[in-house]
This record gives sequence, C-alpha cells and structure tokens, in this order.
Amino acid sequence: MKKIGILTSGGDAPGMNAAIRAVVRSAIYNGLKVMGINKGYQGLIEGNITEMTLSSVGDIIHRGGTILKSARCDEFRTEEGRKKAINVLNVFGIEGLVVIGGDGSFRGAKKLSEAGIATIGLPGTIDNDLAYTDFTIGFDTTVNTVLDAISKIRDTSTSHGRANIIEVMGRHCGDIALYAGLAGGAESIILPEEGFDIDEVCKKLLQGKNRGKLHSIIVLAEGVVAEGSQNAFELGKEIEDKTGIETRVTVLGHIQRGGSPSTNDRIMASRMGAKAVELLMKDESGKVIGIKGNELFAMDIDEALATDKKFNKDMYELAKILSI
Ligand code: ADP
Ligand code: F6P
Repeated sequence: MKKIGILTSGGDAPGMNAAIRAVVRSAIYNGLKVMGINKGYQGLIEGNITEMTLSSVGDIIHRGGTILKSARCDEFRTEEGRKKAINVLNVFGIEGLVVIGGDGSFRGAKKLSEAGIATIGLPGTIDNDLAYTDFTIGFDTTVNTVLDAISKIRDTSTSHGRANIIEVMGRHCGDIALYAGLAGGAESIILPEEGFDIDEVCKKLLQGKNRGKLHSIIVLAEGVVAEGSQNAFELGKEIEDKTGIETRVTVLGHIQRGGSPSTNDRIMASRMGAKAVELLMKDESGKVIGIKGNELFAMDIDEALATDKKFNKDMYELAKILSI
C-alpha cells in the first residue's frame, strides 16, 4: 500500500478533524501518501481530490466540522455512481480508503471494499447510534453542548418557575437525550426507545412543584416527535394546559453538531485514525473501528451494522429516580 484516501460523509461531527489529522500524520509517518477527498462520496465521484501534507492538517485538532467537508450523495447508492467512484480511485492510484461517517457511510464503504478497494470505516456521528461501539466520534462533545444548554436554561427556568422542554437531536437513538438528561438532572427524559405518557410527565412536574422545585427540565429526543403527530411546541402547550405550569420550548438544532471537540472525542478520534492506517498497512479491508472498555478493536462492517443497539435502561431508570 503506497497511497490512501480519506473522506468524511453523512452528518458532520466534532472530532472528525482530529481523526483526519491522525490518519494523515500517521500515514505520512509510515511512508504513505494521503489524498484528501472533499465532500464525501460526491467529491469522490467528481474527482474532487487533493494531496494532504503534514501541514495541511495543522491547527485543526481543536476545530469542529470537517476540513474535508461532508455530503450526502444519492448517486453513490447506484451501481453506476460507484463505478465512477472506483474509476476515480484507480486514476488517482488510491489503493486504500478511510471513510469517517455513520451507518449509511459504512454501507457505502462496504460496497467499495467488495469492489476491491481496501476500505476502513471510523464511526463519526453525534448520535451514538452505532451499536457495535461504545462511543462514536462527536457524541461526547454534543452531550457537553447539550449539557451547557440545559444548565443555562435551568437558570431561567428557576427564576420564573417554569417548565422547559429542550429538544435534542437523535431520530432513532435517544443517547444524546439520555446522557445529557442524566448529567443535567432533567425531571423527564423522553426517548424514541421508551416513548412517553404525557400524564406521567405532567404528574412528575406537579409533584416536583408541590415539593418546592422551582424548575422543570424535560429533555426530548427529536425522534419522538418526528415519528408522532405532535411537535415539541404542541407538546409544550399540552403540558401547560394540563399542569397550569408555564412552559417554554427550545429546539437546540444544529448547534449540537458544531464546536470544538471534547478531550474524549479528540483522543478517541486520534487513536482510531492511527488504527485505521495500521489496518490498511496490513491490507485489511471491509472493517470498522470501535471502542469498548477503552480498548480499540476492528470488526467486519456487516457484523457491525447487524449489531442491535442496546438501550441503556439502567441509566434511564436512574435518571428517573434521581429526579423525584
Ligand atoms: P451517515 O453516514 O451519517 O449515516 P447517510 O445515511 O446520509 O449518513 O449516508 C451518507 C452517504 O452514504 C449517503 O449519502 C450515500 O452516499 C452513502 N450510502 C448510504 N447508504 C448507502 C448504501 N446502502 N449503499 C451505498 N452508499 C450508501
Ligand atoms: O445523524 C446526525 C444528525 O445530526 C441527526 O441527529 C439529525 O436528525 C440529522 O443528522 C440532521 O441532519 P441534517 O444534516 O440533514 O440536518
């Protein structure tokens, strides 16, 4: 292996830059050339590719987003689109590829690996929805961003004696809501994995108010309202009508995808990036890197994608107990 490529794909995540830096620096350290593919699979099809150097990844470890940019690309889902991508890889002499992204990006990586391109995936998504790994790059930073928002909203919630709904990202996986909700002492955490009973939520708010609680924080994962008929604002109105407690709603949105990566994300991304290069140098392909108990490991993409996400019910129950 003499030349590898790297791309970021799907929703961006803080820590992707730290991973890019690690791939580029460890590859060059080991005598490989590295080509940066801009805009994910779209840029691959278009040949939007430039060589990366030691200094092209300088001053990025602390930056959110991805210097390689990201995209979603429908053409790459087709056989024809992937043929174009493979031609481009051949023209540029790229023998191995590191793909940083979520499950969709991994499905694309698998197809490239089946077509003979040595491909390794790194989990880059704020959602933490890849079951095979304890954590994905970006999740820790996002939880900290949400926690900061919860703390600030709690200040004003207390001053006014209000209830505040905070809607966070996570369409099918409630980990952002669960971790930030537990760490932020939320009164209620509403997740796609558990659903909710509005009367239970209201009862808890009223019980809290009656024992002198001044604030009520409800962390709501976007997946719950996206699937149902209600949006966060309608839910807020219903809670206000049922409890008489003035209720405000904050949808955090894309603020959760940006910002300087946390220590954990930078370290994990750095370790995973170096590991990807190590695997490519051993001619490994069709694998993704994960972390369990602070140990890195590699797993076949198919096996990783087939792993069922286990919802951490213990944490959910604990959050309920601690917020009575
Ligand atoms: P994420 O990687 O964050 O899950 P997406 O699901 O949007 O994000 O996937 C990112 C890109 O990966 C898609 O735009 C598409 O180009 C590619 N992709 C997703 N699923 C497949 C698939 N089944 N086959 C080939 N490419 C895919
Ligand atoms: O998958 C990451 C994620 O941030 C989800 O939590 C969110 O629902 C989605 O991406 C938003 O995607 P878009 O980039 O299309 O706004």
